[in-house]
Amino acid sequence: LRQIKTGDDDFGLMTYDPAYTNTASCRSSVTFIDGDVGILEYRGYPIEQLAEKSTYLEVAYLLVYGELPTQQQLDWWVNEITLHTFVHENVKEFVGGFRHDAHPMGMLLGAVGALSTFYPDAFDIDDPASREIQTIRLISKMPTLAAFAYRHIQGRPYVYPDNDLAYPDNFLSMMYKMTELKYEPDPRLSRALDILFILHADHEQNCSTSAVRSVGSSQVDPYSAVAAGIAALYGPLHGGANEAVLRMLRRIESVDNIPGFIEGVKAGNERLMGFGHRVYKNYDPRAKIIKSAAEDVFEVTGRNPLLDIALELEKIALEDEYFVQRKLYPNVDFYSGLIYEALGLPVEMFPVMFAIPRTSGWIAQWLEMTQDGEQKIARPRQIYTGDRGRDYVPIASR
Ligand code: ACO
Repeated sequence: LRQIKTGDDDFGLMTYDPAYTNTASCRSSVTFIDGDVGILEYRGYPIEQLAEKSTYLEVAYLLVYGELPTQQQLDWWVNEITLHTFVHENVKEFVGGFRHDAHPMGMLLGAVGALSTFYPDAFDIDDPASREIQTIRLISKMPTLAAFAYRHIQGRPYVYPDNDLAYPDNFLSMMYKMTELKYEPDPRLSRALDILFILHADHEQNCSTSAVRSVGSSQVDPYSAVAAGIAALYGPLHGGANEAVLRMLRRIESVDNIPGFIEGVKAGNERLMGFGHRVYKNYDPRAKIIKSAAEDVFEVTGRNPLLDIALELEKIALEDEYFVQRKLYPNVDFYSGLIYEALGLPVEMFPVMFAIPRTSGWIAQWLEMTQDGEQKIARPRQIYTGDRGRDYVPIASR
Protein backbone atom coordinates (compact mmCIF):
# COMPACT_ATOMS: atom_id res chain seq x y z
CA LEU A 1 0.00 0.00 0.00
CA ARG A 2 2.90 2.33 0.60
CA GLN A 3 3.61 2.24 -3.12
CA ILE A 4 0.34 3.98 -3.92
CA LYS A 5 0.98 6.85 -1.56
CA THR A 6 1.32 9.76 -3.97
CA GLY A 7 2.29 12.57 -1.60
CA ASP A 8 2.65 13.59 2.07
CA ASP A 9 -1.06 14.36 2.36
CA ASP A 10 -2.04 11.00 0.84
CA PHE A 11 -2.55 8.43 3.62
CA GLY A 12 -1.82 5.69 1.11
CA LEU A 13 -4.67 3.39 1.97
CA MET A 14 -7.13 2.25 -0.65
CA THR A 15 -9.29 -0.75 -1.25
CA TYR A 16 -8.79 -3.11 -4.17
CA ASP A 17 -12.25 -4.29 -5.18
CA PRO A 18 -12.46 -5.31 -8.84
CA ALA A 19 -16.05 -5.10 -10.10
CA TYR A 20 -16.88 -3.24 -6.86
CA THR A 21 -18.58 -6.28 -5.37
CA ASN A 22 -18.14 -4.90 -1.86
CA THR A 23 -17.99 -1.17 -2.49
CA ALA A 24 -20.97 1.16 -2.10
CA SER A 25 -20.56 3.83 -4.76
CA CYS A 26 -23.33 6.13 -3.54
CA ARG A 27 -26.09 6.71 -1.01
CA SER A 28 -29.48 6.06 -2.55
CA SER A 29 -33.11 6.07 -1.47
CA VAL A 30 -34.53 4.72 -4.73
CA THR A 31 -34.46 0.93 -4.50
CA PHE A 32 -33.89 -1.53 -1.65
CA ILE A 33 -32.85 -5.15 -2.16
CA ASP A 34 -32.37 -7.83 0.48
CA GLY A 35 -31.02 -10.68 -1.59
CA ASP A 36 -30.88 -13.20 1.26
CA VAL A 37 -34.62 -13.16 1.76
CA GLY A 38 -35.65 -12.09 -1.74
CA ILE A 39 -37.00 -8.59 -1.04
CA LEU A 40 -37.20 -5.82 -3.65
CA GLU A 41 -38.76 -2.44 -2.87
CA TYR A 42 -39.02 0.77 -4.90
CA ARG A 43 -39.03 3.80 -2.58
CA GLY A 44 -40.01 1.40 0.22
CA TYR A 45 -42.98 -0.20 -1.57
CA PRO A 46 -42.74 -3.99 -2.09
CA ILE A 47 -42.48 -5.01 -5.74
CA GLU A 48 -45.33 -7.51 -5.27
CA GLN A 49 -47.78 -4.73 -4.34
CA LEU A 50 -46.64 -2.47 -7.14
CA ALA A 51 -46.91 -5.26 -9.73
CA GLU A 52 -50.40 -6.11 -8.54
CA LYS A 53 -51.89 -2.66 -7.97
CA SER A 54 -49.94 -0.10 -9.93
CA THR A 55 -49.14 0.78 -13.53
CA TYR A 56 -45.71 1.30 -15.03
CA LEU A 57 -46.23 5.05 -15.43
CA GLU A 58 -47.30 5.40 -11.81
CA VAL A 59 -44.21 3.43 -10.76
CA ALA A 60 -42.04 5.65 -12.97
CA TYR A 61 -43.49 8.68 -11.14
CA LEU A 62 -42.74 7.01 -7.81
CA LEU A 63 -39.13 6.32 -8.81
CA VAL A 64 -38.59 9.84 -10.14
CA TYR A 65 -40.36 11.87 -7.42
CA GLY A 66 -40.05 9.51 -4.46
CA GLU A 67 -43.78 9.40 -3.63
CA LEU A 68 -46.84 7.76 -5.13
CA PRO A 69 -48.74 10.46 -7.06
CA THR A 70 -52.13 11.85 -6.11
CA GLN A 71 -54.78 11.41 -8.82
CA GLN A 72 -54.12 14.95 -10.01
CA GLN A 73 -50.36 14.42 -10.14
CA LEU A 74 -50.82 11.13 -11.98
CA ASP A 75 -53.14 12.73 -14.54
CA TRP A 76 -50.59 15.48 -15.14
CA TRP A 77 -47.73 12.97 -15.43
CA VAL A 78 -49.54 10.62 -17.83
CA ASN A 79 -50.59 13.60 -19.94
CA GLU A 80 -47.01 14.94 -20.07
CA ILE A 81 -45.56 11.54 -20.97
CA THR A 82 -48.21 11.10 -23.66
CA LEU A 83 -47.57 14.56 -25.14
CA HIS A 84 -43.88 13.82 -25.68
CA THR A 85 -44.04 10.42 -27.36
CA PHE A 86 -43.27 11.80 -30.83
CA VAL A 87 -39.67 12.22 -31.97
CA HIS A 88 -38.28 14.86 -34.30
CA GLU A 89 -38.58 13.72 -37.94
CA ASN A 90 -34.79 13.86 -38.26
CA VAL A 91 -34.50 11.31 -35.45
CA LYS A 92 -36.72 9.06 -37.54
CA GLU A 93 -34.38 9.54 -40.47
CA PHE A 94 -31.40 8.90 -38.20
CA VAL A 95 -32.89 5.50 -37.28
CA GLY A 96 -33.60 4.90 -40.98
CA GLY A 97 -29.90 5.27 -41.71
CA PHE A 98 -28.92 2.05 -39.97
CA ARG A 99 -28.26 -1.14 -41.96
CA HIS A 100 -31.34 -3.27 -42.52
CA ASP A 101 -29.95 -5.98 -40.23
CA ALA A 102 -28.66 -3.66 -37.48
CA HIS A 103 -29.14 -4.90 -33.92
CA PRO A 104 -32.10 -2.97 -32.44
CA MET A 105 -30.22 -2.40 -29.18
CA GLY A 106 -27.36 -0.76 -31.11
CA MET A 107 -29.93 1.39 -32.90
CA LEU A 108 -31.54 2.40 -29.61
CA LEU A 109 -28.14 3.22 -28.14
CA GLY A 110 -27.28 5.45 -31.11
CA ALA A 111 -30.69 7.10 -31.25
CA VAL A 112 -30.79 7.98 -27.54
CA GLY A 113 -27.27 9.39 -27.74
CA ALA A 114 -28.38 11.43 -30.75
CA LEU A 115 -31.30 12.90 -28.76
CA SER A 116 -28.83 15.05 -26.82
CA THR A 117 -28.13 16.97 -30.04
CA PHE A 118 -31.85 17.72 -30.41
CA TYR A 119 -32.19 19.12 -26.89
CA PRO A 120 -29.19 21.33 -26.15
CA ASP A 121 -31.07 22.63 -23.08
CA ALA A 122 -30.40 19.19 -21.56
CA PHE A 123 -26.88 20.30 -20.66
CA ASP A 124 -28.36 22.70 -18.13
CA ILE A 125 -28.49 20.03 -15.47
CA ASP A 126 -28.60 22.60 -12.64
CA ASP A 127 -32.00 23.82 -13.81
CA PRO A 128 -34.82 21.76 -12.20
CA ALA A 129 -37.21 22.57 -15.09
CA SER A 130 -34.68 21.26 -17.60
CA ARG A 131 -34.09 18.10 -15.57
CA GLU A 132 -37.85 17.50 -15.43
CA ILE A 133 -38.51 17.96 -19.14
CA GLN A 134 -35.59 15.68 -20.11
CA THR A 135 -36.93 13.07 -17.69
CA ILE A 136 -40.33 13.23 -19.34
CA ARG A 137 -38.89 13.16 -22.84
CA LEU A 138 -36.72 10.13 -22.12
CA ILE A 139 -39.52 8.04 -20.61
CA SER A 140 -41.97 9.07 -23.38
CA LYS A 141 -39.71 8.57 -26.38
CA MET A 142 -38.07 5.29 -25.45
CA PRO A 143 -40.97 3.07 -26.67
CA THR A 144 -41.17 5.10 -29.90
CA LEU A 145 -37.47 4.63 -30.63
CA ALA A 146 -37.65 0.95 -29.67
CA ALA A 147 -40.60 0.35 -32.01
CA PHE A 148 -38.92 2.29 -34.84
CA ALA A 149 -35.84 0.05 -34.43
CA TYR A 150 -38.04 -3.05 -34.61
CA ARG A 151 -39.92 -1.79 -37.68
CA HIS A 152 -36.61 -0.92 -39.31
CA ILE A 153 -35.30 -4.50 -39.11
CA GLN A 154 -38.68 -5.77 -40.31
CA GLY A 155 -38.51 -3.41 -43.30
CA ARG A 156 -41.92 -2.01 -42.42
CA PRO A 157 -42.98 1.64 -42.27
CA TYR A 158 -42.74 3.23 -38.85
CA VAL A 159 -45.99 3.67 -36.97
CA TYR A 160 -46.35 6.97 -35.15
CA PRO A 161 -47.53 7.04 -31.55
CA ASP A 162 -51.29 6.87 -30.95
CA ASN A 163 -51.76 9.17 -28.01
CA ASP A 164 -55.24 7.87 -27.22
CA LEU A 165 -53.64 4.66 -26.04
CA ALA A 166 -52.09 3.82 -22.68
CA TYR A 167 -48.28 3.48 -22.50
CA PRO A 168 -47.98 -0.30 -23.08
CA ASP A 169 -50.83 -0.35 -25.63
CA ASN A 170 -49.22 2.47 -27.56
CA PHE A 171 -45.96 0.56 -27.67
CA LEU A 172 -47.71 -2.57 -28.97
CA SER A 173 -49.54 -0.44 -31.54
CA MET A 174 -46.27 1.07 -32.83
CA MET A 175 -44.82 -2.44 -33.02
CA TYR A 176 -47.62 -4.42 -34.59
CA LYS A 177 -50.18 -2.14 -36.25
CA MET A 178 -50.60 -3.27 -39.86
CA THR A 179 -53.60 -1.35 -41.19
CA GLU A 180 -55.08 2.11 -40.90
CA LEU A 181 -57.51 0.72 -38.33
CA LYS A 182 -56.85 1.47 -34.70
CA TYR A 183 -54.68 -1.19 -33.06
CA GLU A 184 -56.03 -2.24 -29.70
CA PRO A 185 -54.19 -5.13 -28.07
CA ASP A 186 -55.82 -7.70 -25.82
CA PRO A 187 -55.89 -6.03 -22.38
CA ARG A 188 -54.36 -9.15 -20.81
CA LEU A 189 -51.30 -8.75 -23.05
CA SER A 190 -50.88 -5.05 -22.38
CA ARG A 191 -51.28 -5.66 -18.63
CA ALA A 192 -48.64 -8.43 -18.74
CA LEU A 193 -46.31 -6.06 -20.59
CA ASP A 194 -46.99 -3.30 -18.07
CA ILE A 195 -46.12 -5.72 -15.25
CA LEU A 196 -42.85 -6.62 -16.98
CA PHE A 197 -42.13 -2.89 -17.27
CA ILE A 198 -42.78 -2.44 -13.53
CA LEU A 199 -40.50 -5.35 -12.62
CA HIS A 200 -37.63 -4.08 -14.76
CA ALA A 201 -37.89 -0.40 -13.79
CA ASP A 202 -35.01 -0.32 -11.32
CA HIS A 203 -32.58 -2.61 -9.52
CA GLU A 204 -30.25 -0.29 -7.58
CA GLN A 205 -26.55 -0.15 -8.55
CA ASN A 206 -26.44 -2.77 -11.30
CA CYS A 207 -23.96 -2.49 -14.18
CA SER A 208 -26.04 -0.18 -16.39
CA THR A 209 -27.21 2.08 -13.55
CA SER A 210 -23.63 2.39 -12.33
CA ALA A 211 -22.69 3.33 -15.91
CA VAL A 212 -25.38 6.05 -15.97
CA ARG A 213 -24.15 7.44 -12.65
CA SER A 214 -20.49 7.21 -13.59
CA VAL A 215 -20.92 8.94 -16.95
CA GLY A 216 -23.49 11.36 -15.49
CA SER A 217 -21.01 12.37 -12.78
CA SER A 218 -19.06 14.21 -15.48
CA GLN A 219 -22.16 16.48 -15.68
CA VAL A 220 -22.92 15.44 -19.24
CA ASP A 221 -26.55 15.67 -20.40
CA PRO A 222 -28.93 12.86 -19.32
CA TYR A 223 -29.40 11.49 -22.87
CA SER A 224 -25.69 10.76 -23.10
CA ALA A 225 -25.69 9.27 -19.58
CA VAL A 226 -28.68 7.04 -20.40
CA ALA A 227 -27.01 6.01 -23.67
CA ALA A 228 -24.12 4.76 -21.51
CA GLY A 229 -26.66 2.72 -19.53
CA ILE A 230 -28.03 1.22 -22.74
CA ALA A 231 -24.48 0.33 -23.81
CA ALA A 232 -23.93 -1.51 -20.52
CA LEU A 233 -27.26 -3.31 -20.81
CA TYR A 234 -26.36 -4.41 -24.36
CA GLY A 235 -23.79 -6.87 -22.94
CA PRO A 236 -24.87 -10.53 -22.69
CA LEU A 237 -23.99 -10.73 -18.99
CA HIS A 238 -26.53 -8.02 -18.19
CA GLY A 239 -29.42 -7.65 -20.65
CA GLY A 240 -28.95 -10.84 -22.63
CA ALA A 241 -29.60 -13.68 -20.17
CA ASN A 242 -33.29 -14.11 -21.10
CA GLU A 243 -32.27 -14.77 -24.70
CA ALA A 244 -29.83 -17.43 -23.45
CA VAL A 245 -32.67 -19.03 -21.44
CA LEU A 246 -34.86 -19.28 -24.52
CA ARG A 247 -32.06 -20.84 -26.57
CA MET A 248 -31.39 -23.31 -23.73
CA LEU A 249 -35.07 -24.33 -23.49
CA ARG A 250 -35.22 -24.86 -27.26
CA ARG A 251 -32.09 -26.99 -27.10
CA ILE A 252 -33.47 -29.17 -24.29
CA GLU A 253 -36.47 -29.68 -26.57
CA SER A 254 -38.51 -31.97 -24.33
CA VAL A 255 -39.19 -32.65 -20.65
CA ASP A 256 -37.67 -36.13 -21.12
CA ASN A 257 -34.25 -34.60 -21.83
CA ILE A 258 -34.17 -32.59 -18.58
CA PRO A 259 -32.47 -35.16 -16.28
CA GLY A 260 -29.56 -35.55 -18.74
CA PHE A 261 -29.30 -31.78 -19.10
CA ILE A 262 -29.24 -31.27 -15.32
CA GLU A 263 -26.48 -33.88 -14.95
CA GLY A 264 -24.44 -31.89 -17.51
CA VAL A 265 -24.95 -28.69 -15.50
CA LYS A 266 -23.88 -30.39 -12.27
CA ALA A 267 -20.80 -31.79 -14.02
CA GLY A 268 -19.89 -28.18 -14.86
CA ASN A 269 -20.42 -28.51 -18.63
CA GLU A 270 -22.74 -25.52 -18.75
CA ARG A 271 -24.93 -23.30 -16.57
CA LEU A 272 -28.64 -23.47 -16.01
CA MET A 273 -29.42 -20.11 -17.57
CA GLY A 274 -31.91 -17.94 -15.70
CA PHE A 275 -30.77 -19.42 -12.39
CA GLY A 276 -28.56 -17.76 -9.78
CA HIS A 277 -27.95 -14.11 -9.04
CA ARG A 278 -25.11 -12.09 -7.56
CA VAL A 279 -27.43 -10.48 -5.00
CA TYR A 280 -30.42 -12.82 -4.63
CA LYS A 281 -29.57 -15.95 -2.68
CA ASN A 282 -33.25 -16.76 -2.56
CA TYR A 283 -36.10 -16.79 -5.09
CA ASP A 284 -35.89 -13.56 -7.12
CA PRO A 285 -39.22 -11.89 -6.22
CA ARG A 286 -39.59 -10.71 -9.82
CA ALA A 287 -39.37 -14.29 -11.13
CA LYS A 288 -42.44 -15.32 -9.09
CA ILE A 289 -44.51 -12.48 -10.54
CA ILE A 290 -43.31 -13.09 -14.10
CA LYS A 291 -44.14 -16.78 -13.81
CA SER A 292 -47.79 -15.99 -13.14
CA ALA A 293 -47.86 -13.25 -15.82
CA ALA A 294 -46.59 -15.88 -18.30
CA GLU A 295 -49.62 -18.05 -17.53
CA ASP A 296 -51.92 -15.05 -18.28
CA VAL A 297 -50.18 -14.37 -21.58
CA PHE A 298 -50.42 -17.97 -22.69
CA GLU A 299 -54.16 -17.88 -22.07
CA VAL A 300 -54.30 -15.40 -24.95
CA THR A 301 -51.53 -16.64 -27.23
CA GLY A 302 -51.77 -20.38 -26.61
CA ARG A 303 -49.43 -22.37 -24.42
CA ASN A 304 -45.80 -22.52 -25.46
CA PRO A 305 -44.49 -26.06 -24.77
CA LEU A 306 -41.22 -24.48 -23.63
CA LEU A 307 -43.09 -23.31 -20.52
CA ASP A 308 -43.54 -26.94 -19.47
CA ILE A 309 -39.80 -27.50 -19.85
CA ALA A 310 -39.11 -24.37 -17.76
CA LEU A 311 -41.56 -25.41 -15.02
CA GLU A 312 -40.08 -28.91 -14.83
CA LEU A 313 -36.51 -27.55 -14.78
CA GLU A 314 -37.44 -25.29 -11.90
CA LYS A 315 -39.12 -28.13 -9.99
CA ILE A 316 -36.14 -30.45 -10.36
CA ALA A 317 -33.55 -27.75 -9.61
CA LEU A 318 -35.31 -26.55 -6.46
CA GLU A 319 -35.14 -30.08 -5.03
CA ASP A 320 -31.60 -30.86 -6.16
CA GLU A 321 -28.80 -30.64 -3.59
CA TYR A 322 -26.42 -28.96 -6.11
CA PHE A 323 -28.72 -25.96 -6.59
CA VAL A 324 -29.98 -25.86 -2.98
CA GLN A 325 -26.46 -25.79 -1.53
CA ARG A 326 -25.37 -22.98 -3.86
CA LYS A 327 -28.60 -21.05 -3.27
CA LEU A 328 -29.43 -21.01 -6.99
CA TYR A 329 -33.02 -19.96 -7.67
CA PRO A 330 -34.81 -18.70 -10.80
CA ASN A 331 -33.99 -15.09 -11.57
CA VAL A 332 -35.97 -12.44 -13.49
CA ASP A 333 -34.77 -13.79 -16.84
CA PHE A 334 -35.98 -17.36 -16.40
CA TYR A 335 -39.55 -16.67 -17.57
CA SER A 336 -39.40 -13.21 -19.21
CA GLY A 337 -38.08 -14.49 -22.57
CA LEU A 338 -41.07 -16.82 -22.86
CA ILE A 339 -43.43 -13.86 -22.51
CA TYR A 340 -41.52 -11.74 -25.01
CA GLU A 341 -41.58 -14.59 -27.49
CA ALA A 342 -45.32 -15.05 -26.97
CA LEU A 343 -45.76 -11.32 -27.68
CA GLY A 344 -44.12 -11.94 -31.06
CA LEU A 345 -40.73 -10.40 -30.31
CA PRO A 346 -37.52 -11.69 -31.88
CA VAL A 347 -34.71 -12.35 -29.38
CA GLU A 348 -32.74 -9.28 -30.53
CA MET A 349 -35.54 -7.16 -29.08
CA PHE A 350 -35.25 -8.68 -25.58
CA PRO A 351 -32.60 -6.26 -24.26
CA VAL A 352 -34.57 -3.39 -25.82
CA MET A 353 -37.61 -4.52 -23.82
CA PHE A 354 -35.42 -4.24 -20.71
CA ALA A 355 -34.14 -0.77 -21.66
CA ILE A 356 -37.61 0.78 -22.10
CA PRO A 357 -38.69 0.52 -18.45
CA ARG A 358 -35.18 0.69 -16.98
CA THR A 359 -35.07 4.24 -18.34
CA SER A 360 -37.22 5.42 -15.41
CA GLY A 361 -34.78 3.81 -12.94
CA TRP A 362 -31.74 5.23 -14.72
CA ILE A 363 -33.19 8.72 -14.76
CA ALA A 364 -34.35 8.50 -11.12
CA GLN A 365 -30.83 7.49 -10.11
CA TRP A 366 -29.35 10.21 -12.31
CA LEU A 367 -31.65 12.83 -10.72
CA GLU A 368 -30.65 11.63 -7.26
CA MET A 369 -26.98 11.87 -8.20
CA THR A 370 -27.29 15.41 -9.54
CA GLN A 371 -28.79 16.45 -6.17
CA ASP A 372 -26.20 14.65 -4.06
CA GLY A 373 -23.78 17.18 -2.63
CA GLU A 374 -21.24 14.42 -1.94
CA GLN A 375 -21.09 13.36 -5.59
CA LYS A 376 -17.87 14.18 -7.38
CA ILE A 377 -16.80 12.97 -10.80
CA ALA A 378 -16.46 9.17 -10.62
CA ARG A 379 -12.80 8.41 -10.71
CA PRO A 380 -11.67 5.06 -9.27
CA ARG A 381 -8.02 4.44 -8.43
CA GLN A 382 -5.88 1.53 -9.55
CA ILE A 383 -3.11 -0.72 -8.35
CA TYR A 384 -0.41 -0.12 -10.93
CA THR A 385 1.34 -3.32 -12.00
CA GLY A 386 3.46 -2.11 -14.93
CA ASP A 387 7.08 -1.06 -15.37
CA ARG A 388 8.52 2.23 -14.09
CA GLY A 389 11.19 4.67 -15.21
CA ARG A 390 12.17 3.00 -18.50
CA ASP A 391 14.38 4.84 -20.98
CA TYR A 392 12.97 5.41 -24.45
CA VAL A 393 14.56 3.05 -27.02
CA PRO A 394 14.88 4.33 -30.62
CA ILE A 395 12.88 2.17 -33.02
CA ALA A 396 15.96 0.93 -34.86
CA SER A 397 17.36 -0.49 -31.61
CA ARG A 398 14.25 -2.43 -30.48
N1 ACO B 1 -26.07 -22.99 -13.17
C1 ACO B 1 -25.22 -23.86 -12.57
N2 ACO B 1 -24.35 -23.52 -11.62
C2 ACO B 1 -24.30 -22.24 -11.25
C3 ACO B 1 -25.16 -21.27 -11.83
C4 ACO B 1 -26.07 -21.69 -12.81
N3 ACO B 1 -26.90 -20.83 -13.40
N4 ACO B 1 -24.92 -20.07 -11.27
C5 ACO B 1 -23.95 -20.27 -10.38
N5 ACO B 1 -23.58 -21.58 -10.36
C6 ACO B 1 -22.61 -22.23 -9.47
C7 ACO B 1 -21.18 -21.91 -9.89
O1 ACO B 1 -20.69 -22.88 -10.77
C8 ACO B 1 -20.49 -21.91 -8.56
O2 ACO B 1 -20.31 -23.25 -8.18
P1 ACO B 1 -18.95 -23.73 -7.42
O3 ACO B 1 -18.98 -23.01 -6.11
O4 ACO B 1 -19.07 -25.20 -7.32
O5 ACO B 1 -17.84 -23.27 -8.30
C9 ACO B 1 -21.49 -21.30 -7.61
O6 ACO B 1 -22.78 -21.62 -8.18
C10 ACO B 1 -21.36 -19.79 -7.43
O7 ACO B 1 -21.39 -19.19 -8.73
P2 ACO B 1 -20.73 -17.80 -9.10
O8 ACO B 1 -20.45 -17.77 -10.56
O9 ACO B 1 -19.58 -17.53 -8.17
O10 ACO B 1 -21.89 -16.79 -8.73
P3 ACO B 1 -21.98 -15.27 -9.20
O11 ACO B 1 -22.70 -14.55 -8.12
O12 ACO B 1 -20.64 -14.74 -9.59
O13 ACO B 1 -22.83 -15.35 -10.52
C11 ACO B 1 -24.60 -15.25 -12.06
C12 ACO B 1 -24.13 -14.92 -10.62
C13 ACO B 1 -23.60 -14.64 -13.08
C14 ACO B 1 -25.96 -14.65 -12.28
C15 ACO B 1 -24.62 -16.79 -12.21
O14 ACO B 1 -25.50 -17.35 -11.27
C16 ACO B 1 -24.99 -17.23 -13.62
O15 ACO B 1 -24.11 -17.32 -14.49
N6 ACO B 1 -26.31 -17.51 -13.88
C17 ACO B 1 -26.77 -17.87 -15.21
C18 ACO B 1 -26.89 -16.61 -16.08
C19 ACO B 1 -28.08 -15.75 -15.70
O16 ACO B 1 -29.19 -16.24 -15.51
N7 ACO B 1 -27.85 -14.42 -15.61
C20 ACO B 1 -28.91 -13.45 -15.31
C21 ACO B 1 -28.72 -12.82 -13.98
S1 ACO B 1 -30.07 -11.71 -13.63
C22 ACO B 1 -29.73 -10.28 -14.44
O17 ACO B 1 -28.63 -9.96 -14.79
C23 ACO B 1 -30.85 -9.37 -14.80
